[in-house]
Amino acid sequence: MANKEKTGQRAHHLIDTKFAARELRSLGEKELGYLAEVMRGETLSNYISESSMTRRFEDAFAKRVGAKKAMAKNAAMSGLVEAVSVSGAGPGFEVICDPIVHFGGLAAIYFNAVPRFADVKRDTYNMDPESLLANITPLSKAVIVTHMWGQSAEIETIRDICREKGLFLIEDCAHCVGSTWNGRHVGTFGQLGVFSFQEFKQLSTGDGGMTVTTDEKLFEQMRGAWWFSGESPKFVYINYRMNEVTAAVGLAQLEKVDRIVEGTYNKTLAILDKAIEGCEWIRPRTVPRQAKMAGYWWACTWEGDKGGLSYEKFKALEEELDIGLRFGFNFYPAYEFPFFRESTAYRTQPDCPVRCPFYTSKSNYRYTWGLTPVTEELMQRLITVNLIFLSIPAAEKMAEGIRQLIKRMEK
Ligand SMILES: Cc1ncc(COP(=O)(O)O)c(C=O)c1O
Repeated sequence: MANKEKTGQRAHHLIDTKFAARELRSLGEKELGYLAEVMRGETLSNYISESSMTRRFEDAFAKRVGAKKAMAKNAAMSGLVEAVSVSGAGPGFEVICDPIVHFGGLAAIYFNAVPRFADVKRDTYNMDPESLLANITPLSKAVIVTHMWGQSAEIETIRDICREKGLFLIEDCAHCVGSTWNGRHVGTFGQLGVFSFQEFKQLSTGDGGMTVTTDEKLFEQMRGAWWFSGESPKFVYINYRMNEVTAAVGLAQLEKVDRIVEGTYNKTLAILDKAIEGCEWIRPRTVPRQAKMAGYWWACTWEGDKGGLSYEKFKALEEELDIGLRFGFNFYPAYEFPFFRESTAYRTQPDCPVRCPFYTSKSNYRYTWGLTPVTEELMQRLITVNLIFLSIPAAEKMAEGIRQLIKRMEK
């Protein structure tokens, strides 16, 4: 953990403020223009009127990703939790998710559903459809698939599995503005797709999120739930909407995001990929030909131990050269986090959900080491860099550092 914090801090000095104003995510006249409109309108929350800033942002975002409808939220987490509720998952049901990050599992336990973790592929870091299939049980209700770090999972295969098995498919697109599979934007394959606009994402509103869908009937039910009309909503909904001020920033950011993803994040990603080209003991991430990546987070894996190289030496040299790489990402799969095993405010039984009385009688599922062996091994080997505040000159400097590091290891 100490190492992670330290490398995060060291990476920060690479932020080039002059470059940032031009080519990285930035705030300026566009945002101020829309914000002025909101202030003049003297309405701070409005998701009903078609001319509101929130509706304009929702409609523009839906159009950008090719969805029928979009619903602006205060965070992606709210969208994921709401999606679990809409799926009908609850006590005694399982929600299958992937374990590199914990957000899908967290969304499931809000509604006392049991997160069940499918493994990822060693080369793409995304959910392995075979493992998804192997984790489907009579209790499965929904799947939350993460398109990790701007790269689509094998979403057509996953969608087909979900259709065949009658599972509600939720796409976690938190990292994915501009990411497609066979030319179609992620978030539009399942019933719901959820995007994040938190500070460290390609499009930021400070905090915020967007749920998209191609199912208009589902959208009407969800919108109807938010807009309290005196009737019982169809499901337990999450009333965490976006306000007009946030939407004004979002609309302005949306107009810039493609240029920044293409012009900077995809370039910095390529610069770092090039730095490890030809190195036999650092393996680049595989991008399937169907996937168009939206640069967000660069990643590769350490394989040097197989040729007798020392990882400790590698990390010490990296520190000496002050490159700013992050090792191991979170180090462990999500099910190793104690909060999946301990009782929380949302759960009343110790060791819920996997030992909850609704569940144990039906399943022997446990969160134990060995549950997703590929993820367990992968996470120890990950070498990553968040690209959001990395300028092209800073990426070039970092790439030069990586080249030197490789040379010194091979000397
Ligand atoms: C994959 C993934 N899903 C969901 C979230 C939650 O997003 P938010 O902070 O907007 O709630 C994050 C945040 O980093 C994330 O990385």
